[in-house]
Amino acid sequence: MPVTTESLTQLFPPNEAAIPEAWRLPEPLHQRQYLLDGELREWAGPTQEVVSPMAERQPDGSLKPRIIGSYPLLDEAESLKALDAAVRAYDHGRGEWPTMSVADRIAAVEKFTRLIVARKAEIVRLLLWEIGKSAADSEKEFDRTVDYIRNTINSLKDLDRDSSRFTIEEGIIGQIRRSPLGVVLCMGPFNYPLNETFCMLIPALIMGNTVLFKPPKHGTLLHFPLLQAFTEAFPKGVVNTVYGRGNAVVPALMSSGKIDALGLIGSSRVADSLKKLHPKSNRLRAILGLDAKNVGIVMPDADLEVAVKEALLGSLSFNGQRCTALKLFMVHEHIAEDFVQRLGAEINKLKPGMPWEAGVNITPLPEPHKPSYLSECLVDAQSKGARILNEGGGTAAGPLVYPALVYPVKEGMKLWREEQFGPVVPVASFAHVDEAIQYIIDSDHGQQVSIFGSESREVADLIDQLVNQVSRVNINAQCQRGPDTFPFTGRKDSAEGTLSVYDALRSFSIRTVVATKQTDANKHLLNEIVDGQESSFLSTRFIL
Ligand code: G3H
Repeated sequence: MPVTTESLTQLFPPNEAAIPEAWRLPEPLHQRQYLLDGELREWAGPTQEVVSPMAERQPDGSLKPRIIGSYPLLDEAESLKALDAAVRAYDHGRGEWPTMSVADRIAAVEKFTRLIVARKAEIVRLLLWEIGKSAADSEKEFDRTVDYIRNTINSLKDLDRDSSRFTIEEGIIGQIRRSPLGVVLCMGPFNYPLNETFCMLIPALIMGNTVLFKPPKHGTLLHFPLLQAFTEAFPKGVVNTVYGRGNAVVPALMSSGKIDALGLIGSSRVADSLKKLHPKSNRLRAILGLDAKNVGIVMPDADLEVAVKEALLGSLSFNGQRCTALKLFMVHEHIAEDFVQRLGAEINKLKPGMPWEAGVNITPLPEPHKPSYLSECLVDAQSKGARILNEGGGTAAGPLVYPALVYPVKEGMKLWREEQFGPVVPVASFAHVDEAIQYIIDSDHGQQVSIFGSESREVADLIDQLVNQVSRVNINAQCQRGPDTFPFTGRKDSAEGTLSVYDALRSFSIRTVVATKQTDANKHLLNEIVDGQESSFLSTRFIL
């Protein structure tokens, strides 16, 4: 059946009965509470309506926005109260949480994990409704987050065991551990609202920092079921939420100079402006995951079956809304036609629909402006000589956009450099692979690249050039963040600092040494402290 606006419209549910019972939202969630200083406070001020991308189809074929709830729009004064609570709880590193033993902090995070696992169904349902992620992927995001927390705990145990000893060098006895940084502001993105927020928040917390946490603009309500768990698992003021419009609540936090670390996964433009607001830039540590325009380079000897399969996954998983998505393919001219033909055929096998449908691949987009932006990109490319190769590509019904394969994309088109972050797959061709390398050198981004090829010398040569341009080179595989134990970072405007189970613990802490000269008196003093378990830091206790 040809893809038309009408056929896509038909995919939206006309009423509740058309939605499987397990995924129906019992009623809109009008959240008034927010977490500040250990308690859930009621907000009487303005709120933000949450509109789901899964609109309701009307008898006349129009799509009626579906309001699924609302959340508090705190003001600057309230966000500064949240900041004060976090500053008090940290108390210049003397608070209960930053001085707590690692074992006790681990116990608190374990308790938190038990509490959120009990709320899984509720959280996953909200995730699906807020951002349109398929049921399978929404569940996967939750499970991946829980695994991430458990792996973080294990990694911290290892780190702590390695630090539970003294080092003696050049007549100096030292114990080296990692200490918290202070108050951390965590802001995650809408595409992985749970996972990417927690990949910063949990390591920040477990290392002894206190946290201000601002949920993303889309993917906010799903954090509501977690608020109670935060209050039960952590001392007061250790976790505080900042709900509201970023530009209303965040600048004051940064300009206060009281934020010690900024954990942000979002745009480089926002990160750049926030960092500049901090009055003492040397005091701010930034751990950032930002924009990317990852390229898939397809060499003439590539196994096209593998390349097409990975290209499909890499460019269109979750509608292309991944920072790691492949956002431009550069294909050798001898195989470009074959590549686009096969890729176009595979794209047209993808199933558009609502996220609760089994096997669905393409779902409605949560950012209201995105369909018109993507359409602008397509019109721009077509006006400059590119074609949409797959049947129905770019057709939209409200927030549901059928993926478009665009070829040949060239310099000067929006799709050449802009990060489309949506279901549009631009393909360019090259005569010599140096053109692809030059594209990456000239790019503002430097996150990852995929190379598809089979000739070992050529692949090796590309690897050696590209490892100094980006932070991960994938061979015959799509770009991706996982496994979460691998370092996730980027060069240029794509990232600052490194996230992974192991690296995030380091990113949100600083190495600290207690040292003394190796005299009898000092040895005696250290032994007394250690034997009497008088210090949490200076200690050889071992977490089993
Ligand atoms: O949006 C960026 C995510 O970190 C991508 O993660 O590669 O696991 O989808 P992923």
